[in-house]
Amino acid sequence: MNGENGINRDMISYYKDRAQEYDRKAYDPHEQPERQADIKEASRILQDVFTGKSVLEIAAGPGFWTTIIAQAAKSITATDVNEAVIDLARKKQYPEGKVTFRVADMYALGDMPLHDALFGGFIFSHILKQDYDKFLDAINGYVRPGGSVVLMDNNRTLTPRPADRTDEQGNNYRLRTLEDGSKHEIVKNYPTQEELRSVLRNRSTGMDFKNMEHYWILTYRTST
Ligand SMILES: C[S@@+](CC[C@H](N)C(=O)[O-])C[C@H]1O[C@@H](n2cnc3c(N)ncnc32)[C@H](O)[C@@H]1O
Repeated sequence: MNGENGINRDMISYYKDRAQEYDRKAYDPHEQPERQADIKEASRILQDVFTGKSVLEIAAGPGFWTTIIAQAAKSITATDVNEAVIDLARKKQYPEGKVTFRVADMYALGDMPLHDALFGGFIFSHILKQDYDKFLDAINGYVRPGGSVVLMDNNRTLTPRPADRTDEQGNNYRLRTLEDGSKHEIVKNYPTQEELRSVLRNRSTGMDFKNMEHYWILTYRTST
């Protein structure tokens, strides 16, 4: 999938190639010391919202948040389109019998019972603005009416680096180089609270948006 100048523009294969690097670096206290306060606060919120619930996790990656949610949830089904990241997630420690894994595209999970709640960490920023409706309809459809959804992602930090490219729909793109030298262009959007409220207006109740230093975390209930 390498295009012009050897740049890979496929986000799914970016995370396949980045699986090990992401697992080592994304939340590591030595790599990300400044994010630890947000990670602690987000963990508290996730455990609070998901206590005793059956949780479906989309785009679970190597399972960092899965380990945290599993401590409080009744059960968690962790899914991701990339087998490479699910393999890493399977190796982590979880409370006995609570976690199941499935390699699956979040837009087509296949046969899946409705869950009490859903979590999507650090996936919303990779959704094209023109696909927000499609994404939210898909994830809300996996949760029982009135169930809880939590989405979390990076906010625009205090000194944002400008996007490497912006398209006519206003989507931002970043050029990233992995440890193996491969170059990837990925969508990286920073939706505002107003944008999120607007796109969720007719499909949610009780929306709560919390802006931390590096992350935002959004909680809502699906419409009944
Ligand atoms: C930034 S990582 C987030 C991983 C994890 N949720 C976290 O917060 O650490 C994005 C993840 O989305 C997954 N992904 C991308 N497109 C997907 C799709 N269509 N369906 C399911 N997972 C997808 C990638 O494989 C990758 O693991």
